[in-house]
Amino acid sequence: MNLERVMDYIEANEQSFVDQLVNFLKIPSISAQSKHRPDLEKAADFLVREFNRLGLTVEKIKTDGNPLVYAETPPDPSRPTLLVYGHYDVQPVDPLELWKNPPFEPKVENGVIYARGSSDDKGQLYAHIKALEAYLRTGTELPANVKFIIEGEEECGGHNVYTYTEQNADKLACDAVIISDTTMFDADTPAICYSLKGLCFMEIRVKGPAQDLHSGSFGGTVQNPGNAVATIVARLKNSRGQVKIPGFYDDVLDLDQSERDAFASLNYSDRVLRQETGAPRAWGEAGYTTLERMWARPTCDVNGIWGGYSGEGAKTIIPASAGAKVSMRLVPNQKPAEIAAAFEKYVRRIAPRGVAVEVLNLHNANPVLVPRDSAMMQAGMRALEKGFNRKPVFIREGGSIPIVGTFQKALRAPVLLLGLGLSTDNIHSPNEKFHVSNFVNGIRTAAHLLVEASK
Ligand code: BES
Ligand code: ZN
Repeated sequence: MNLERVMDYIEANEQSFVDQLVNFLKIPSISAQSKHRPDLEKAADFLVREFNRLGLTVEKIKTDGNPLVYAETPPDPSRPTLLVYGHYDVQPVDPLELWKNPPFEPKVENGVIYARGSSDDKGQLYAHIKALEAYLRTGTELPANVKFIIEGEEECGGHNVYTYTEQNADKLACDAVIISDTTMFDADTPAICYSLKGLCFMEIRVKGPAQDLHSGSFGGTVQNPGNAVATIVARLKNSRGQVKIPGFYDDVLDLDQSERDAFASLNYSDRVLRQETGAPRAWGEAGYTTLERMWARPTCDVNGIWGGYSGEGAKTIIPASAGAKVSMRLVPNQKPAEIAAAFEKYVRRIAPRGVAVEVLNLHNANPVLVPRDSAMMQAGMRALEKGFNRKPVFIREGGSIPIVGTFQKALRAPVLLLGLGLSTDNIHSPNEKFHVSNFVNGIRTAAHLLVEASK
C-alpha cells in the first residue's frame, strides 16, 4: 500500500498539528485536584470535537469520576482492529516557581513544546489522532479499523476505565491495543516497551503523645514518633539496596541471560544516568546493572516523610505524630495485594514500642510483561523503523500504566507500547517537554502501523 499522500499530508500540516496540540495543552486537566473538574470535561470535549470533525462515531461516557471518550471508524469486519488507549489528564504542576514558562501556556522553542502534559500523555496520544486524520483527509482507504478509548484518571488512580473495559469487552474487542505513553530508548533510538512495573503505594501513620510535647520536659520518657518513623524506614532496605520485607522477592521473575545480554548491548552508562538525574552517582541493589535495576528489579522508596517542626529556626518538641509515604514498584509476577500485606506485617513487627502505627494501602497496579515474539510486536517494530528512519530496540520501563493488565486479561489482545517520549522530557516534573520531531515521527509511525498491523 502506498502511503505517499498520507506522508505528504503529515509533512504539509506539521505546523498546524503543533498549533492544535498547543490548544489541547492549554487545558489544565489535572485529575488529582477537584477544582480542575471542569477542565477535565473541557479536555474530554476537545477530543469529542476532534473525533466529530473526523466523522468518527463518538461517545462521551459519564462515570462517577472523569468522563471516558470512545470513538471508532466505521467497522469493516474484513480488516483487523486496533484499539488506541491514552489519557487526557495530567499531573499537578507544583513547584510552580521552577517552571521557566507557565505550564498551561505552551511555548514552542527550537523544536520543543514546553507544557504540562506535552509528553505525558496529550502529545503522544494526539499523534495517533493526527495519523488517522491524514488517512481520512487524503481519502486513503484505512487498512485497519481504529477504536479509541481515552480516560481522564490515569494519573490519580481512578478505576472507571477498568470497570468500563471489563463490562464492554465486546465493544472494545481488537487485534491489538496501541499505547503511546512511554519513552524511546534515547533521542536517536525509538523503542517498544515490553514490560511495565506495577505499583504498591503505602502510607505509614505513627501516633505518639496526644499533642506535641516540650522535648526537655518529656524527652526520653515517651517514644518519639519522628524517631519511630525513621527506625521503620531505615529497616525497609539494607545497605546493599535489598528490600528486607520477608517474601518481597518470592514471586520476582528473574531476568534470563538473553535479556541481560540484550540490556548490556544497549548503549547506556552510569554517566548518562548522572546527566539525566543530577544525582552524584548511580546506586542500587547489589549484583545488578543500572538498566537491570531500572527495568526489572522491584523497588521500595520513600516518596514523602513528615513529622514535627521543619520551619525556620529551632522549636524544641516531641511531635505528636509522624508518617511516611512509600511506593514499591513491582515486577512480574509480584502481586500488589500480597506485597501490601507483607509490608504491613513487617512494619508492625519492626515498629518501636510506645507508638500506635497505622498502615494504609493507597494505590495498586499490576506489573506487565508482553511477549516479544508476536506478529503485532514485529509490526510495531517495522512501523517505528519506517516512522523514525531508525532501527528500534526493545526496552522495559520503571513506570506503570495501570490499565494495561486489564486490557490483557479482558480483551486477550497483545499490547503494543510505542513510546514517543524521552526519559528527559521531565514528566511529572517542572518544564515538561515534547520534541516536535518525536511528535511528527510518531504520527508517521502511527500511520505506518495501520498498514503493518494488517499484513
Ligand atoms: N506515562 C506514565 C508511565 C510511564 C512513566 C511510562 C515513566 C514510562 C516512563 C504514566 O502516565 C504514569 O505516570 N503512571 C503513573 C501511574 C501511577 C499513578 C499508578 C506512575 O507510573 O507513577
Ligand atoms: Zn502517562
